[in-house]
Amino acid sequence: MSDSYSATDGTTDSEAANSTDTGTEARRPGATLDETTPSIQEIPERETVIEATDLTVHYGDVEALKPVNVRLPEQEVTAIIGPSGCGKSTFLRCINRMNDMVDTARVGGELRYRGTNVYGDEVDPVALRRRIGMVFQKPNPFPKSIYDNVAYGLKIQGYDGDIDARVEESLRNAALWDEVKNQLDSSGLDLSGGQQQRLCIARAIAPDPEVILMDEPASALDPVATAKVEDLIDELAEEYTVIIVTHNMQQAARISDKTAVFLTGGKLVEFGDTNRIFENPENQRVEDYITGKFG
Ligand SMILES: Nc1ncnc2c1ncn2[C@@H]1O[C@H](COP(=O)(O)OP(=O)(O)OP(=O)(O)O)[C@@H](O)[C@H]1O
Ligand SMILES: [Mg+2]
Repeated sequence: MSDSYSATDGTTDSEAANSTDTGTEARRPGATLDETTPSIQEIPERETVIEATDLTVHYGDVEALKPVNVRLPEQEVTAIIGPSGCGKSTFLRCINRMNDMVDTARVGGELRYRGTNVYGDEVDPVALRRRIGMVFQKPNPFPKSIYDNVAYGLKIQGYDGDIDARVEESLRNAALWDEVKNQLDSSGLDLSGGQQQRLCIARAIAPDPEVILMDEPASALDPVATAKVEDLIDELAEEYTVIIVTHNMQQAARISDKTAVFLTGGKLVEFGDTNRIFENPENQRVEDYITGKFG
């Protein structure tokens, strides 16, 4: 691999896998329950993949994110919740530099992926997005065949492996293969909404990213398609780090290991184990939000 992440990825994955098994007992988030340490400072029990340090975003003069400090762990599902306009999508888009596309967006502070400053001069955003893929709220397949949708990223990156095999594997991992294996040449746009979203997930995982960002990936889907996407997220978490924005509190509680709660004004108010956040939030406003008193 020629992008600037190969060194960090190749060397840390196996070490990271090993390090999660040993010596972390004392750092388990549950251990902080008896302490006064704010949960936002919690040290995740798994290796950190994404680390924000005083990360801010302004759109022109509008402050969309107040300084965010958080470490997101590998191979877990982190849910980002909070009322509309609180900066969830803004935060998510910082992680793979999608905010670069917004002319007025200005990012401050620091965002690290596996220790690399994502906003460093040497970082190629396209290479970054191969490591950190994204799935959007509205399924957005290319107006191409199902096969080409999934193969697209592989061809662009000059993948020299077996593209057919990789397309099949990605579609299988996205739980779509059985439904489309006999129609790979038909348009991705002819699929149902739920199938289109799984196609977009297949497209996102084809280049073999480490992190998948999802911005309300099920909000445009019916309950059956939503359930399929949720099951899929569960499976993806075995292999990938998933960071998902959702407005659906039950969904966050069901599918995530960690939860980050943003509140109006772009402030990350609480971060920690999903069970604890939902059962025993430290912040009264978080409790009010989770129990539906506002939002
Ligand atoms: N491109 C933009 N230009 C200017 N302001 C923006 C832009 N995108 C977002 N904002 C503003 O930044 C703030 C955070 O927006 P963001 O889209 O991150 O919120 P959100 O939590 O994802 O909301 P929702 O739940 O409605 O999707 C809002 O005040 C919003 O109006
Ligand atoms: Mg949003």
